[in-house]
Amino acid sequence: MRKNIQLFQPSIGREEMEAVMGVLRDKTLTDEVGSGAYVKKFEEAYARYVGAKYAVAMSSGTAALHASLLLADVGPGDEVIVPSFAQTSTAEAVALTGAKPVFADINIKTYCLDPKSVEEKITSKTRAIIPVHVFGLMAEMDAIREIAKEHDIYVIEYAGQAHGAEFKGQKAGTYGDLACFSFNALSIITTGEGGMVTTNRRDYAEELQSIRVHGFGRYGSSERLGHNYKMTEIAAALGYYQLQKLPRLLEARRRNAQILTSLLESVGRLELPEEPPEYKHAWSLYTVRLRGGKVGERNKLVMKLNASGIQAKIYYQPPIHMAPYYRRKYGTRPRSQPNTETAARQVFSLPCHQGLGEEDLKYIAQKLRKLIK
Ligand SMILES: Cc1ncc(COP(=O)(O)O)c(C=O)c1O
Repeated sequence: MRKNIQLFQPSIGREEMEAVMGVLRDKTLTDEVGSGAYVKKFEEAYARYVGAKYAVAMSSGTAALHASLLLADVGPGDEVIVPSFAQTSTAEAVALTGAKPVFADINIKTYCLDPKSVEEKITSKTRAIIPVHVFGLMAEMDAIREIAKEHDIYVIEYAGQAHGAEFKGQKAGTYGDLACFSFNALSIITTGEGGMVTTNRRDYAEELQSIRVHGFGRYGSSERLGHNYKMTEIAAALGYYQLQKLPRLLEARRRNAQILTSLLESVGRLELPEEPPEYKHAWSLYTVRLRGGKVGERNKLVMKLNASGIQAKIYYQPPIHMAPYYRRKYGTRPRSQPNTETAARQVFSLPCHQGLGEEDLKYIAQKLRKLIK
């Protein structure tokens, strides 16, 4: 029988279904200011899980990023350093404020921002750095935080793919002044669409609560510019019960990643993902690099895997600085981010979610080995 191995597979059980049905029965689908009972419950549980003092739910990861930048008062004339090797929302949220996204290069082993490249991009206009924890592995947050401290600028972590990831014993979501998460359907835990910002500052949390509902103050009129970034009660109910499962989902991903590594480590041309000492990977995706590979060879390999019923996928091609909008608007050019462009040409992601069995993993490895030979 033909295999059909998906790259993402949400784990939705009875508890989530009952909670969502309960919200539907109560007809409290959303709260006027976005602070309904389930939203609060999810926020409190999420902050506790991450180890941050506050969490503020949002309608998406992109909304979380945009709201954080609004809070930091980033706007026209400002620059924000972001990776180009990431989903487009990071740069997009910056562009939406009128500020300029400035792209820094990545470390070719971790695919996360290289602190040296970040340092080179700092100017007197830099207001913030957004390190993205790509594929579930955290960026070098101590070095990035040092740079930010020295230049007195914000750090906004993007941890949309890194729920539960750790660096030096601290979880993603606790290193930045603010940290953003996504719960879209491709995330380790999902609310369909959804997001969260974590922070240790109460004034930031209160400001974010206002930004997510049109900048309203206590009397319901706009005291600042905001948006409608509220999370629904349905999403929060789903999220609350998803969060209870997160440790179990992360364990399954870790086990699957270990199995894939043991099955693939003898394939000389493949650079496998690593979990460096002092890091805890969330294994949102198992991303490999075809060393020395030309883009066509990598693309063909992924097509053949897809034809064998394995949903492998290429992230991120083109990298953001080479996408038409960013080239037009900011004049960014190819050959300006060497590691980012190498990664964009050579990597592809394999599934390692909790829904896979040992047979699936063996099948993936066997097909891949055959294709690379
Ligand atoms: C790096 C990065 N930024 C932003 C997002 C956007 O999140 P959302 O789809 O919730 O807006 C994602 C989603 O996966 C992401 O991976």
